[in-house]
Amino acid sequence: MNQFEIRQHFIDFFKEKHHLFVPSDSLIPRGDKTLLFTNAGMNQFKDIFLNQRKPPSPRIVNSQKCMRVSGKHNDLEDVGRDTYHHTFFEMLGNWSFGDYYKKEAILFAWELMTAIWQLPKEKLWATYYKDDEEARQIWADETDINQKQILPFDEKDNFWEMGETGPCGPCSEIHIDLGSDFCHLRNEPDHHCGVNMNCPRFIELWNLVFIQYNKDGQGTLSPLPYKHIDTGMGFERLVAVLQGKKSNYDTDIFRPLISHIEEMSNTPYGQEGQHNVSMRVIADHIRAVTFLISDGIFPSNEGRGYVLRRILRRAVRHGKLLELTEPFLYQLASTCIDTMAAAYPELKEDPNNTILIIKKEEERFRQTLHRGLFILEGMIEKNKQAQKSVLSGQDMFLLYDTYGFPSDLTKELLEEHNIGLDESGFQEAMALQKAKGRSSWEGTERLKQEEELARTYQDIAPTVFVGYQQVSDNSNVIALFLEGQPIDEAPSGMTVECLLDKTPFYGEAGGQVGDIGLLTSATGSSQVLNTTRTPQGHFIHHIKVEQGTLSLGDTVTAKIDTQRRDDIRRNHTSTHLLHAVLREILGDHVRQAGSLVSPDHFRFDFTHFERISQSDLVLIEREINRLILANIDVHSETTSFDTAVQEGAMALFDEKYASEVRMIRIPGISLELCGGTHVHKTGDIGLLKIRHEGGIAAGIRRIEAITGKKAHSWIVHLDQEVHEIASLLKTSEDRLKQKISCVLIQNKELEKEIVILRNSIMKNELRRMMDETVEINGIKVVINHLHHMDTNDLRSLCDQVKQKIERAIIILASERAGKVIMVAAVTAALIPAFHAGKLVNQIARMLGGGGGGRADFAQAGGKFVDKIDEVLAEVPDLITQLVK
Ligand code: ALA
Repeated sequence: MNQFEIRQHFIDFFKEKHHLFVPSDSLIPRGDKTLLFTNAGMNQFKDIFLNQRKPPSPRIVNSQKCMRVSGKHNDLEDVGRDTYHHTFFEMLGNWSFGDYYKKEAILFAWELMTAIWQLPKEKLWATYYKDDEEARQIWADETDINQKQILPFDEKDNFWEMGETGPCGPCSEIHIDLGSDFCHLRNEPDHHCGVNMNCPRFIELWNLVFIQYNKDGQGTLSPLPYKHIDTGMGFERLVAVLQGKKSNYDTDIFRPLISHIEEMSNTPYGQEGQHNVSMRVIADHIRAVTFLISDGIFPSNEGRGYVLRRILRRAVRHGKLLELTEPFLYQLASTCIDTMAAAYPELKEDPNNTILIIKKEEERFRQTLHRGLFILEGMIEKNKQAQKSVLSGQDMFLLYDTYGFPSDLTKELLEEHNIGLDESGFQEAMALQKAKGRSSWEGTERLKQEEELARTYQDIAPTVFVGYQQVSDNSNVIALFLEGQPIDEAPSGMTVECLLDKTPFYGEAGGQVGDIGLLTSATGSSQVLNTTRTPQGHFIHHIKVEQGTLSLGDTVTAKIDTQRRDDIRRNHTSTHLLHAVLREILGDHVRQAGSLVSPDHFRFDFTHFERISQSDLVLIEREINRLILANIDVHSETTSFDTAVQEGAMALFDEKYASEVRMIRIPGISLELCGGTHVHKTGDIGLLKIRHEGGIAAGIRRIEAITGKKAHSWIVHLDQEVHEIASLLKTSEDRLKQKISCVLIQNKELEKEIVILRNSIMKNELRRMMDETVEINGIKVVINHLHHMDTNDLRSLCDQVKQKIERAIIILASERAGKVIMVAAVTAALIPAFHAGKLVNQIARMLGGGGGGRADFAQAGGKFVDKIDEVLAEVPDLITQLVK
């Protein structure tokens, strides 16, 4: 059977047992901020397990794309070193939602493995959670497995959790004994061949999880209302076993990739040795990279994009070990797409884009390597000069973190120069960074807040939003909260949260800020300062009672600030126009990466490799304004998520959409899933002006723009400025540029003249100083008060005196910007008897300041400008004393 037949066979087996097939979900968990990547088949069913959504069928089967490179499930370190762990892999699974339980799950699995696929029973082993007597009995009494091959294990091996939080439960696993040939560790002292003993001879094939708890942010397990089955089988391992291959990399899933790598590197693939490890790592990683990018992830410096970047770079590094010096990964991507697209058609949606992103990132990394090399060489040089034999952990971390330079390469190069490295300092810096990374990932913290909010509002019906059609409505106050505690009445002056049964106020979401406005009732009125919403659909009006009181049960007229809403609409529709125009002008790789829509301006973040040229910006702005002038109708439609996707509506990757979705259509221009508020016709926007374009992370750009009234005010402002500048320069607006050029030329001329004049002043001053030299005990002392000189001038005068006199002490002071500046110099012949630093400090203290420096030259500052002459007059005495 080839890989496609095996996948289909599994699905068909369970279809016959009344399971509904559900396609694989994206690698980006939708609407679940607790996970970086989809790491198990059950992720997309999490809300069903938690009883928040009804399943489309009580029994489901599928094959799910998974990544295990972070968090609780992380296999990265094993990839390539062994032949059966992967970053990206597929998980075959069958589910029961409150339907069958342990017995059927075990019997289905046993039937498929032994009766259908005819895997030898004597090679199969079953494990169960040590306290799960029920599971043990089913294996022992209901299957014909060898009784000695049923083993208990504790939480570590037989209790499955999806992450720090979420559905979980005891599990039972099926392992296969591949035979003693498979264990290359058998001669190692502490090694025992066996199940769950880290022995490559015994590998886990299938995990049957008996989901019955939910684990919350505090780590507490609470029983779920129903019991469920969640199973997962590693597809690549299964294919290797069924195809009788020694390794996953010998199956038809990986073989085309391995052959392509062999061809490019001119190296044959075997099993043992470093180059085989590298080939496996590359074959594994290119699948992860290709699938991640097709699912909409873009290489970047944080979150998912960072993981993608790290995996890609790791593959490039292994390519280097195979002496692949030119970009090669992007070529492998097309082999990966060809091998997998029949099972995952999304790979074929925009393959050129995927390949281009990989190529660009590879090229960028090669540049990074060059730059890192340059910096490292500088560090090595400095180390040698300072005669240090160890590179600091900080330096190594800087290279790694800031310059993306791989640490193993740093080590290699240091070795060549006989320089050691501070490994523990490096690890410390890494640990610090990781801790920062963890806290910046919204995950658990955010979940806790959401859980708390959900608890606060759990008994209140979600709010009906009427704000698409209405700007005001009569509504009932159904809850009031003061700092999270329910109250019945809010008196004048109090700031509280208010929930209405229905509301025209938009609750902040999808980048669009919340509405503000007024609630008025028979007994008072309140300002709505902001509106937010919970994931469960409660709109929270953050209000301040201005007059009278607001009480539970009051009927209020809820009226939003319509002018502000209109400004917001203009900006929101503009983000859709901008998105469409960016894709048209820059290419289809442009995808929304974030946005902020406020009344004053909007911000739109998107994926793009480089700065947008000024000429492209002009083009983009002109095109959007053309669409505004064309005054096109903007429609909103409600449809099913599937229809929207079929029609090609743009959706955000990490957003969870309901089965019914709202689309905003600007015919012929843009179609996006969006819950925001929009103008009726593009002409309502009036005018759009881009104010700023810049990068916010590698591969992510941001455009900020203004529209409508703000755009008009901006133009009026510019106009006024131009007018004022013209009148300052005593010219007319149309001659302004010419005038400024003239002024700049004049300035240059004046600067030249100043230099000439200054030089001649300096010459005169030098002459005067030489004339006024006093002699103390054979030492020439030059003390002078100069005017309007800066430190550089004083220093230059000092240097010139030093050239003329062999044994001299020079003290010069000047006032500048209301302060005293001073320099002192001592010629070499008088050191160490005199010290310029100490001398100048002593004098400066008398002027209310201080300073210091070297023995031959020093500078100082002081406050008492008026006392300069008086203090300088005392210097000869001071020096006389020092001579003694
Ligand atoms: N959810 C289980 C696993 O991932 C089946 O192993």
